[in-house]
Amino acid sequence: MKILVINGANLNMLGIREPGIYGNSSYEDLKNMISTHAMEKGVEIKFYQSNHEGDLVDAIQSAYFEKFDGIVINPGAYTHTSLAIADAVKAVNIPTVEVHISDVTKRESYRQISYIREVASKTIMGKGFAGYLEAIDFLLEKK
Ligand code: DQA
Repeated sequence: MKILVINGANLNMLGIREPGIYGNSSYEDLKNMISTHAMEKGVEIKFYQSNHEGDLVDAIQSAYFEKFDGIVINPGAYTHTSLAIADAVKAVNIPTVEVHISDVTKRESYRQISYIREVASKTIMGKGFAGYLEAIDFLLEKK
């Protein structure tokens, strides 16, 4: 089982950006937490982070060519704007879980739209970093 974990815009700033919303732990901490969990579950993980929409599209497409079994994606703010990312998820047809650290349904009105939601197998939000682990478990059970 090979899972690609994609983080989009500003998620490299975890621990620095708005700690009241996203917590004090860094992107490195997030990767370590996911790696430990994946090792316990015998899952192979590849991480990708970018602040650029097109690069995120390229990363999703690479999951197809590199034969990944699942994608976990937190597109950051592109969640609410990017048809291109949603189209890429549809194009590769690989089970994909949308993750948000915060509960976007309880935040600003402009965060209420998600273009990814309708193409994702599942959406997990408001569970902090643990949401990524739940996403991996979901993909494992689905396989
Ligand atoms: C986020 C929520 C988005 O609205 C925001 O733009 C982010 C992070 C989250 O993980 O809660 O960058 O995806």
